[in-house]
Amino acid sequence: MSQNAQADKKFRLADDGGQLIGELPVFKGTLGFEVVDVRQLLDKSGYCTFDPSFGSTASCRSTITFIDGDKGILLHRGYPIDQLAEKATYLEVAFLLLFGELPSASELAQFTKDITYHTMVHEQLTRFYAGFPREAHPMAILSAVVSALSAFYPDSTDIFDPQQRLISIHRLIAKMPTIAAMAYKNSVGQPFIYPQNHLDYSANFLNMMFAVPPEPYKVNPVFARAINALLIVQADHEQNASTSTVRMVGSTRANPFASVSAGIAALWGPLHGGANEAVLDMLEQIGDKKNIPDFIKRAKDKNDSFRLMGFGHRVYKSYDPRARVMQKICEEVLHEVGADNDPLLKLARELERVALADEYFVDRKLYPNVDFYSGIVQRAIGIPVKMFTALFAIARTAGWLAQWKEMIEDPDQRIARPRQLYCGEDTREYVPLDKRRSMTDTSATVHKPMPSEPAIVGG
Ligand code: ACO
Repeated sequence: MSQNAQADKKFRLADDGGQLIGELPVFKGTLGFEVVDVRQLLDKSGYCTFDPSFGSTASCRSTITFIDGDKGILLHRGYPIDQLAEKATYLEVAFLLLFGELPSASELAQFTKDITYHTMVHEQLTRFYAGFPREAHPMAILSAVVSALSAFYPDSTDIFDPQQRLISIHRLIAKMPTIAAMAYKNSVGQPFIYPQNHLDYSANFLNMMFAVPPEPYKVNPVFARAINALLIVQADHEQNASTSTVRMVGSTRANPFASVSAGIAALWGPLHGGANEAVLDMLEQIGDKKNIPDFIKRAKDKNDSFRLMGFGHRVYKSYDPRARVMQKICEEVLHEVGADNDPLLKLARELERVALADEYFVDRKLYPNVDFYSGIVQRAIGIPVKMFTALFAIARTAGWLAQWKEMIEDPDQRIARPRQLYCGEDTREYVPLDKRRSMTDTSATVHKPMPSEPAIVGG
């Protein structure tokens, strides 16, 4: 395990009769849970672990991000998220995630230059956009165009060359805002706005989104600060679904453009990055304070698929620290646009108040997550709802690449290949076509039900 993990304990495996059949090492990282190293479990005992959504599985060792979901703590390389969001720039945080330390002034200047001078995309790539329908979702475009980058930059796809890895990292962090803003411009039929090297990362994104050729566009510094904070709070979140996807694809030694493209696809899902879009839809659907009790009732009803979007988290069983940052940014942005009394913000606050006082949400430790306020911030800045997840993807690119780089540099890294609990048919003879029954014939046995409880091996 890592330099910080010590195997000073053993996890004992017993058979049904309580007979000791083996011992597994137990590791303790710097912070957080102890982990049982089950890599030898199958060989030693003939048993596999069963953890379909990986809720009890540490899939890798990492030194990048730490989350204590019960206490609502999120640290990047040891630095609390609220300090980073308040004091740092997104590129400083990206450097921190990638290289382990906050950059010195000269390191930051060099990193900023490396990113700034890679923001343009190959001119031929701009023609891809003409092939997408105007109403295409930006995440579909983002995923496709990022995947296509490997065709344009084959000179940086050798993952075993540290210099090529670094150039790919620069290219991806630099080009994501350009690709995303181009997707937006394509959807509204406006010409693409090229990146401007005198603008910082967040301001450049806003300029590419909102500038038009006939008149000058001045980036609002409050909006640029809000985008900077939004990018920081979404930059990394340890082994979430999209990051695990990037690691999984990267473990096959696919190039980083292909791996990040897969991460974008995973982020698109409404239970992951798509939730901020869903929060605004939900608030608009609720419409008025008087309707809140009905929606709370629906969220609690097991026969209704409706859930309070922006509430709950697989890891946080306390207030999401990123939601606190976004709540403050939300107030600043709404003040700037003169909407301190924005009805949607009022509705969001009231919904939060009612839910946090409700036994159902209290018992299940369901608190607002980062997406609850981030949608309102983006809406106030003028970012269309469809672009919310694209902005999340821009932010998460730094985290995906830091995690990908860490994986590639890990000497223990192997292709990710989970096992399964097979619940299908036992071996059977091939049935000739004229002897087969239709799948819709209810008298035919199509599949066996899954056992509800797999046998538990303890120790
Ligand atoms: N509204 C109502 N009930 C909820 C909600 C919710 N938002 N979230 C969880 N619950 C309930 C579940 O019904 C379940 O109740 P039960 O124990 O009576 O069956 C219990 O709380 C536990 O929920 P799970 O679905 O088991 O929790 P899980 O960890 O699998 O899901 C998730 C986490 C997907 C985030 C879930 O809370 C959810 O769907 N939230 C809404 C979507 C959302 O906001 N996603 C953004 C996540 S943050 C991010 O990706 C950046």
